[in-house]
Amino acid sequence: MTTKQKVIQILEKNINKAVSGEILALECNVSRAAIWKAVNSLRETGYEINATTNGGYIFNGNKDIFSKENFCKFFEKEFPEIKSEIEVFETIDSTNTYAKKLITNEGSLKNTDGSLTKNACKLQNKIIIAESQTHGKGRLGRTFYSPSKTGIYISIIIIPNTALEDPAFLTTSAAVAVCRTLKKLYKIDAKIKWINDIFVGGKKICGILTEGFANFESRTIDSAVIGIGINVKENKETPEELKQIATSISEQCNNAKINRAELAAHICGETLKILCEDNNKVIDEYKTLSFLIGKQVTVFPIIGDEKSSYNAKVIDIDDKAGLVVKKDNDTIVTLNSGEVSIKSENVANKL
Ligand code: BTN
Repeated sequence: MTTKQKVIQILEKNINKAVSGEILALECNVSRAAIWKAVNSLRETGYEINATTNGGYIFNGNKDIFSKENFCKFFEKEFPEIKSEIEVFETIDSTNTYAKKLITNEGSLKNTDGSLTKNACKLQNKIIIAESQTHGKGRLGRTFYSPSKTGIYISIIIIPNTALEDPAFLTTSAAVAVCRTLKKLYKIDAKIKWINDIFVGGKKICGILTEGFANFESRTIDSAVIGIGINVKENKETPEELKQIATSISEQCNNAKINRAELAAHICGETLKILCEDNNKVIDEYKTLSFLIGKQVTVFPIIGDEKSSYNAKVIDIDDKAGLVVKKDNDTIVTLNSGEVSIKSENVANKL
């Protein structure tokens, strides 16, 4: 047994009771410096261990350990009908990049009769989760800040059996799934900012990036990856500029302890469940959760071209998740790409 394992074994037998560093060192037959190192490593893993003023340690029983086993425990209990392969990484460049590589490595996903190949069936609904990303990707080529232990980064591979013409439905489904999960697990009322951002209390809590592989012949999507990045707790190292415009689940719940495995399992299960629901009902729910309708916004139809921007009022979200806006000259335009900002949120768009 390693020192780390021995230390946690002792602390788990003494929940909420202080155990001195000296006793731990004696029981583990190592130096106090080694105990200090082991405790720090346990904290890194997700155990909440506090230090006492006289050099002791108290474990309060809270642990947030992200492992495939923990994820599956929640996933299988809550969504027994959904079959998915799961892969978990402590760190990765980007879960979306990895998922896309898995798809491209597969080559053709369909047999000549149009059915999915055996390997495509294995990839279908595959979930990739990382505790941190070194090159997290955001929409429109932006980077997505993905620090360790304080967020969770998910990609889900979708290989439609029937023609999927528009990947927007995947993004809207994931957005609704995140909102449902935040409500169900933490009673948080989250709102959607078209098309892919989830906000709570005016700050961004989650971003979604759906990437698809288009089939130019059939003009449909052969496969797609839904990427979801969610802030779980405050990260002390988050750049000040982001702190102003981002929030986390824990901050919205009086710093409550959040179990990332439970959270991720619910988001993934709910997303996959919603994809089987009636599209129209999901869009209705998406509309109800959207906070842009009725708001005065600046529209950026071509990203990077500030000159193309114009002011408009959001009047609706249509059946295909297009944002319907009314320009100042009363012309109605439906946006299927680009982005909009409400004046006070100009910075949030850069998240
Ligand atoms: C955005 O806010 O613009 C979208 C952010 C999407 C981030 C997620 S985290 C998991 C997946 N992997 C990535 O590299 N990006 C998505």
